[in-house]
Amino acid sequence: MRILGIETSCDETGIAIYDDQLGLLSHQLYSQVAVHADYGGVVPELASRDHVRKTIPLIKEALAAANCTKDDIDAIAFTAGPGLVGALLVGSCIGRSLAFAWDKPAIAVHHMEGHLLAPMLEENKPEFPFLALLVSGGHTLMVQVDNIGEYTVLGESIDDAAGEAFDKTAKLLGLDYPGGPRLAKMAENGVEGRFVFPRPMTNKPGLDFSFSGLKTAAAITIAKEGDDAQTQADIARAFQDAVIDTIAIKCKRALKQTGLKRLVVAGGVSANTSLREQLAILMKNNGGEAFYPRNEFCTDNGAMIAYAGMQRLKAGQFEPLAIKAKPRWPL
Ligand code: KG4
Ligand code: ZN
Repeated sequence: MRILGIETSCDETGIAIYDDQLGLLSHQLYSQVAVHADYGGVVPELASRDHVRKTIPLIKEALAAANCTKDDIDAIAFTAGPGLVGALLVGSCIGRSLAFAWDKPAIAVHHMEGHLLAPMLEENKPEFPFLALLVSGGHTLMVQVDNIGEYTVLGESIDDAAGEAFDKTAKLLGLDYPGGPRLAKMAENGVEGRFVFPRPMTNKPGLDFSFSGLKTAAAITIAKEGDDAQTQADIARAFQDAVIDTIAIKCKRALKQTGLKRLVVAGGVSANTSLREQLAILMKNNGGEAFYPRNEFCTDNGAMIAYAGMQRLKAGQFEPLAIKAKPRWPL
């Protein structure tokens, strides 16, 4: 069976074709970063318009790259939420309309399910059950994954998502959007321990996160210490260390609570090298293993949506629905 996956929930248009026997046949990604750069963040209307321009040409390219025609496609999966409603509607309308025209099933995929299954596209993939830490621009979730569709949310951010905190702090440091990877680069030159920011919500029980205070800690430090290049790098380092430490403490707690030995880390922030290193050490010390998607599948992409759609298709878990876009949708 072969599936076409369409991702348009935010600022990347991702299209992929996945075959349940052969794996990923092709994937295309168009990033709108340049479109939004002047505005310091994603402008929803511009995002929708760009998805309108790019989705169909990318579908044609993905089909050609996989040496497929529409007749080789058994179903169409599209991200139905959560995300920006206008952007979601583009993928949803195109996906549902193609499914209608081609007379194939359409599968509405949850964006975060796509992220948490993304490591399944790799050779070294985890077996069920596992613990998943999803750290993206819109969400921070700790999830117990028992099987496809069997997800228990153990904790989440009560304010900013991890990626959002990276982006907001990066903005304070004068870095362009998207600031997360730029802040990480800046932190490489930072001196460890010159500034120490809090590890929020680690001194009380539970698996929820709170990252908005770290941005405030950075703002106060900038106001007090100035913003010469070294100070900026030291603040970036203090911020990143605080986020990573906090995440590691919560992961350790969740592993203990659930008795799980496999940790999946996915979502845009999982591209962060220091986070990967620290969590790999944590898992090694716990006699377990950490699993990540390859870097290009950490951030939004069509491959993870095609994969998640295939699992839903095989399990018969999809609704023959009309166009569906759910900007807010619990996992
Ligand atoms: O998963 P994603 O592409 O989009 C959402 O679904 O939100 O995640 C994007 C987020 C952005 O906040 C971006 O700054 C962050 O992931 N990000 C990083 C890194 N690469 C991307 N944050 C920290 N370090 C990185 N290397
Ligand atoms: Zn995402």
